[in-house]
Amino acid sequence: MKCFSIFKAKKRGKSSPELREQQNASTKPPTRLVKSTGSISSPRTIPELYKEKGHNLTKFSFSELRNATNNFNRLLKIGEGGFGSVYKGSLRRLDPQAHPLVVAIKKLNRNGMQGHKEWLAEVQFLGVVDHPNLVKLLGYCSVDGERGIQRLLVYEYMPNKSLEAHLFSRALPPIPWKTRLQILLGAAEGLAYLHEGLEIQVIFRDFKSSNVLLDENFNAKLSDFGLAREGPQGDRTHVSTMPVGTYGYAAPEYVETGHLKSKSDLWSFGVVIYEILSGRKAIDRNLPQSEQKLIEWVKQFPADSKRFRMIMDPRLNNQYSMEGARKVAKLANSCLRRNPDERPEMSRIVDVLQEAIRELEEDTIPEMRPESSKRRMVGVA
Ligand SMILES: Nc1ncnc2c1ncn2[C@@H]1O[C@H](COP(=O)(O)OP(=O)(O)OP(=O)(O)O)[C@@H](O)[C@H]1O
Ligand SMILES: [Mg+2]
Repeated sequence: MKCFSIFKAKKRGKSSPELREQQNASTKPPTRLVKSTGSISSPRTIPELYKEKGHNLTKFSFSELRNATNNFNRLLKIGEGGFGSVYKGSLRRLDPQAHPLVVAIKKLNRNGMQGHKEWLAEVQFLGVVDHPNLVKLLGYCSVDGERGIQRLLVYEYMPNKSLEAHLFSRALPPIPWKTRLQILLGAAEGLAYLHEGLEIQVIFRDFKSSNVLLDENFNAKLSDFGLAREGPQGDRTHVSTMPVGTYGYAAPEYVETGHLKSKSDLWSFGVVIYEILSGRKAIDRNLPQSEQKLIEWVKQFPADSKRFRMIMDPRLNNQYSMEGARKVAKLANSCLRRNPDERPEMSRIVDVLQEAIRELEEDTIPEMRPESSKRRMVGVA
């Protein structure tokens, strides 16, 4: 799926300088916080927080990472995105008896300022955040040599690829209904932490199924903080930026005005909910014209109507709770409200998904419920 800027329909084309944008964020002056000492200071920024917390990251040498990937061997390549190629690597540990540490190594393909800025944003944001539903950055490598620059990132390895791979690749088995809900919940918890659980608000800006990675137990972890931004502070309502992101996922008001708010992530979340329900991509140019844009197509099958089941992923084989699916579709609709201020907070999304999972679990323990009140999986009933 392509990323965009308003200048290019290319993966992560040039945007205005990320670091400068951060300071020119909005028209109103920043609201100052008065600390208990009586001194006046602004809330800390990500670079400031990074100075305090970023020391947990390891600085790798280029040769260490070259050795870990057998000289960036094609056979070890596990993915390719707008930033560059991703390799599976094995890092030697200090103890020669210990098994090597398996990691994912992302290598910037392009030279130039935009790549460096995304690399820096990723190092700084991931150096500050800490949550089970965000991928862990272990360290980085930065070399400015005569033969150009090298920028690499070293992450914990996620053995089950991305949500995108599971939903859309026929080479992988379909994900069962309950796991789909759990993946949505994990991703929602990651976003809720970014929006509501930190000293400053973080807007992810590129939420999509390829940025939801899956660990060995199919727990969801968000990856790709290259486009993440600090949210508005004080009484500001938004951050002004050059729109960047991915077609099909970005909120319409953000694309139109460049006004970024946490509610922009909510829109993208609504799109991914429909991808999970339908097994269809946000945008699929291989489908007939009227079906290419997922969120337009699903409007013909309202959550309360009989036709609703038409949107459900055939690969679920009817093994899902119709009641749960309707609930989740309604949740998606609330995320996809045109007015961003009418979209729910991420913590509300977490509550509803937890409830849907609880209801499903109650339904699948028949002995706990009287026969008449048992809800069944579609197709089994
Ligand atoms: N930590 C990781 N562990 C395992 N695989 C990973 C990891 N990080 C990335 N990958 C794999 O590499 C692929 C490419 O990731 P990348 O983030 O570079 O691009 P993308 O998300 O597909 O596209 P875009 O650059 O537009 O965001 C992912 O879809 C995933 O399969
Ligand atoms: Mg990605």
